[in-house]
Amino acid sequence: MIVKTIEIKKPGGIENLSLTDIEQPQVVPGKVLVRWRATSLNFHDYLVASGLLPVANGRVPMSDGAGEVVAVGEGVTQWRPGDKVMSVFFPNWLDGRPSLEKMSAILGETVDGCASEYTCLPANALTAMPDHLEFTEAATLPCAALTAWRALVEEGGLKAGDTVLIEGTGGMSIAALQIAKASGAFVFATSSSDHKLEQLKALGADELINYREDPKWGKTVNRLSSGGVDHVLDVGGEATLSQSVAAARIDGNVSLIGVLGGFKARISLPTIFQKNLHITGIAVGSQKMQSDMVSAYNASGIKPVIDQSFGLSELGEAFQYQELGEHFGKIVVEI
Ligand SMILES: NC(=O)c1ccc[n+]([C@@H]2O[C@H](COP(=O)([O-])OP(=O)(O)OC[C@H]3O[C@@H](n4cnc5c(N)ncnc54)[C@H](OP(=O)(O)O)[C@@H]3O)[C@@H](O)[C@H]2O)c1
Repeated sequence: MIVKTIEIKKPGGIENLSLTDIEQPQVVPGKVLVRWRATSLNFHDYLVASGLLPVANGRVPMSDGAGEVVAVGEGVTQWRPGDKVMSVFFPNWLDGRPSLEKMSAILGETVDGCASEYTCLPANALTAMPDHLEFTEAATLPCAALTAWRALVEEGGLKAGDTVLIEGTGGMSIAALQIAKASGAFVFATSSSDHKLEQLKALGADELINYREDPKWGKTVNRLSSGGVDHVLDVGGEATLSQSVAAARIDGNVSLIGVLGGFKARISLPTIFQKNLHITGIAVGSQKMQSDMVSAYNASGIKPVIDQSFGLSELGEAFQYQELGEHFGKIVVEI
């Protein structure tokens, strides 16, 4: 049977993404055949699709997928046809701390991703979907939400009453807001747009700051929180890290997650040791962390925030929309 996929062909570029016909993959021992129903856009996918992050010719992009198991190979016991599943960002990182080997396979970069109707992949390289979510909603979780979950819960030990700072209104930050509020945390949130600040408020953010109007927003958060917040999720890198450090409390956690505002930051090193900060680089997370996150989504009923939905043949348009930076939450693609 002929099925549809998207492949990155040299020289790359989002204007060159187009649907290709391929033979439907066949299931093999130890693997499962998944019919993807949705994927979602992350900044990492943009880097791959635009050619800024070089990949092998013909690579199928997109790390995030939600779909249905249609066939299981010999020896597969954990899945059955009809099970609703999600991809995992690092298919070889099942559990424990990260290592080079566990992070060598990256879905949609070093191995084929989810911009396809069908993929045959290792049975361990999946988790269940939260029970209450549609495919489009579940497809927002494997990269952005798992990163937020790991930063706050796995590394940060988030607990009720903690204070959290999220920056901007991209998919990772909105997932962090939802996880933090579901855990009983007090959330400070920033955005460049007053309209988006209103949307953050509607989602439960407690204190709102326009980072364009208040360039010293880190100091403001420190003052409003009477000495700094417990957890900061930094997404701007060069543009935000010094303010993120200013916002954190003594002995607080700063998670380095994104570089939306540049790759090289100038920060005051004495401030970091005087404040005894825990600065942690975060690269998504493991399959076990994703399973734990799914349990938390099931228990809390969190519904991911979808800004807009596109079709698979419109993946290039979806990335053009992402480039505008006008979205709030996740951009998804239905397959
Ligand atoms: N390390 C990891 O494992 C990991 C995983 C997921 C994402 N990330 C990274 O996290 C970052 C966000 O990812 P995403 O998928 O959420 O991206 P996204 O959806 O594209 O986020 C875009 C939003 O970020 C905000 N933003 C842009 N520049 C900013 C700045 N200088 N300061 C504060 N906010 C800024 C803007 O919010 P407003 O319009 O509200 O101002 C913008 O709408 C990216 O750098 C991405 O690579 C890393």
